[in-house]
Amino acid sequence: MKVLIKRLSGFQEFEVPREPSQTVLDVVTYIQRRLDPSLAYRYACRVGMCGSCAMMVNDVPRWTCRTHVDRVIKEDCLTVGPLRNFPVIRDLVVDMREFFDKWGRAKGEFSGGQTRNEDVARVEPQSEQRQQADAGIECIGCGVCYAACDVVKWNADYLGPAALNRAWTLVNDVRDNKGLERLRAVAGDAGCHACHNHVSCTERCPKRLSPTAAIAGLKREASKALLRGEL
Ligand code: SF4
Ligand code: SF4
Ligand code: FES
Repeated sequence: MKVLIKRLSGFQEFEVPREPSQTVLDVVTYIQRRLDPSLAYRYACRVGMCGSCAMMVNDVPRWTCRTHVDRVIKEDCLTVGPLRNFPVIRDLVVDMREFFDKWGRAKGEFSGGQTRNEDVARVEPQSEQRQQADAGIECIGCGVCYAACDVVKWNADYLGPAALNRAWTLVNDVRDNKGLERLRAVAGDAGCHACHNHVSCTERCPKRLSPTAAIAGLKREASKALLRGEL
């Protein structure tokens, strides 16, 4: 098959043999090990656990280790590039700093009020808040949703689907005590209200999470807080 790899100097073409059950990560690894050792890319687990192998495959953001060539190849050709909406460090490796800085700006860290001397919190598994918190907790920060989002492309300050999904998870965590502060952090111009509900983040998330639903929840809670005069 013909493989076009996007590098800083432009697309570079390689010829790679097809193999049974071959993934896109296998293809990139073949190129780096057999054809061009200077090719830079990133991966760790190879089994869909770490999220570090995310790249654009035929212009769609995907985990390359979980994407079989058979599913995505078009006319015996594959195009692989670095994740969209991220600065490129080299070849297929992107800089995730801004992406994770935005988790910080969205107050994406847990803030509990209890000490180790107190009893563990008991949270009813069937409660609405617990269910809403659990819905987004499995995010592994791969950046696929962020690469799929057009609002991130248009507005570099937009916090993006992953950071907002994280904020919604914590807004629903009854043990956390920074709920209002977090709502203030995500209710600004670059926050939840900037989302256009395109749903591409949800369509592309390999963990089948729904940042779109999380952002809708944040919009709802931020509006209620505004009406109560708290924002
Ligand atoms: S739903 Fe919102 S966050 Fe998700 S891709 Fe669309 S605009 Fe971006
Ligand atoms: S929400 Fe999904 S696509 Fe986005 S960073 Fe988390 S796991 Fe990846
Ligand atoms: S290498 Fe870990 S998810 Fe692909």
